[in-house]
Amino acid sequence: MNICVVGTGYVGLVTGAVFADLGNDVVCVDKDRDKIAALKAGRLPIYEPGLEEMVLRNAGDSRLSFTSDLGVGIRHADVIFIAVGTPPKDTGETDLSHVESVAAEIGRSMDRYKVVVNKSTVPVGTGGFVREVIARHQLRPIEFDVVSNPEFLREGSAIEDTLRPDRIVIGAPTQQVAMTLVELYAPLERPMIITDLPSAEVIKYASNAFLAAKISFINAISNICEAAGADVTQVMKGMGLDSRIGGAFLQAGLGYGGSCFPKDVDSLIHTAGRLGYDFKLLRSVAEINRERAAHLVETMAKALGPLDDTTIAVLGLAFKPNTDDMREAKSLEVIQLLRKAGAHIRAYDPAAMDNARALLPTVTFSASPYEAAEGAHAAVLVTEWNEFRYLNLERLRGQLKRPVIFDGRNLWEPERMRRLGFEYYSVGRKPVLPT
Ligand code: UDX
Ligand code: UDX
Repeated sequence: MNICVVGTGYVGLVTGAVFADLGNDVVCVDKDRDKIAALKAGRLPIYEPGLEEMVLRNAGDSRLSFTSDLGVGIRHADVIFIAVGTPPKDTGETDLSHVESVAAEIGRSMDRYKVVVNKSTVPVGTGGFVREVIARHQLRPIEFDVVSNPEFLREGSAIEDTLRPDRIVIGAPTQQVAMTLVELYAPLERPMIITDLPSAEVIKYASNAFLAAKISFINAISNICEAAGADVTQVMKGMGLDSRIGGAFLQAGLGYGGSCFPKDVDSLIHTAGRLGYDFKLLRSVAEINRERAAHLVETMAKALGPLDDTTIAVLGLAFKPNTDDMREAKSLEVIQLLRKAGAHIRAYDPAAMDNARALLPTVTFSASPYEAAEGAHAAVLVTEWNEFRYLNLERLRGQLKRPVIFDGRNLWEPERMRRLGFEYYSVGRKPVLPT
């Protein structure tokens, strides 16, 4: 099939590469000329395991190409995927201006029947909006259909999530239109839900909001565990073994960040309000998440005393491991609070330091966790990179002025930390205090 994917961000580039890998002829479009030039030269704008190899292979076999000319991409395609960003406005509402401008161009450049697919995360009702914008910009009436096909890929495992999704959601006006996408996805042999457009749009938000709620729930429980002397990791195991609950997304810590959960939660709260429903539950989910960084910094201030003029080593900056993405990263909140309290920050992250530099001008970046810890009054783990799991903790202890670690993600075992001579504070577990 001839496919055009508009937007070469995480979602668009992965989607394009996977469809090409399945044997389709894919043109990826982006209005950012530098990005397209880099992609044409075989350089990827993002870090995603397995993506570079897949892009280069398919570009080499001429199944995948790149252009900044949207008209060219549209005329090439029978199916057009819209995968441009849908950032939040200050009100929490989703900014649909990128989607709108792409839809307008699709209308203008349409030369024959097309299926237009919304891949971007967009509020319920956007399918109808896209349809209206395309129709309004057509130079002459040409038939087309709009489909909702939300993605569920996670950064860091985006290829795997795209090749082996739990389900593929297709929201289409008719069964016949849905079949175009069914055919496209058939080689993956995964369960498909074929439904109407608004239901598909709600499935995406409801799923992300539910996962965010699970995270805030366990974080609220971790506060209780801290006050009651219980261990949240045990509580999580005990809850997760109930097959009705499941253990996934029950990891207590600093809360959720990234480009999706925070904005999708806010957007659903906003959409609910617009539709006349006050989504109190979800407002609490967001509020609990907002309190996480301050909670950690309070724990630090209690243990260390005034943070003024202390030096703190921050381990991990990306919003989660295996990505260089700094969007809504909890490290930004933690560092801002520590800076406000007068602390100096030395930070290390295996992949995100280039992106972090522009966002954190007052931070000193270190070449290793050990360098970050040298002479610091404490270390705080913000992102649970695997590399940190296997740190030489004795060496780290030797670097620190005082052997204190604050673990925002429960990466290490308290007993081990005790044996290694650390003062150790984690989330929802008893602290290991100095002897
Ligand atoms: C995706 C989804 O599209 C978004 O809806 C979801 O909520 C989060 O994930 P992502 O791929 O991460 O977004 O976005 P981003 O990295 O911002 O990439 C979007 C790309 O679209 C950018 O490269 C941008 O240059 C491009 N773009 C944007 C266009 O090509 N045309 C436009 O009009 C606007
Ligand atoms: C998410 C959704 O999982 C995906 O389906 C959707 O398409 C895009 O948004 P992503 O943002 O890449 O994916 O990351 P995810 O692995 O879901 O983690 C989101 C945040 O939640 C991270 O900050 C992570 O640290 C946090 N998290 C996750 C927890 O705090 N606890 C957990 O148990 C799981």
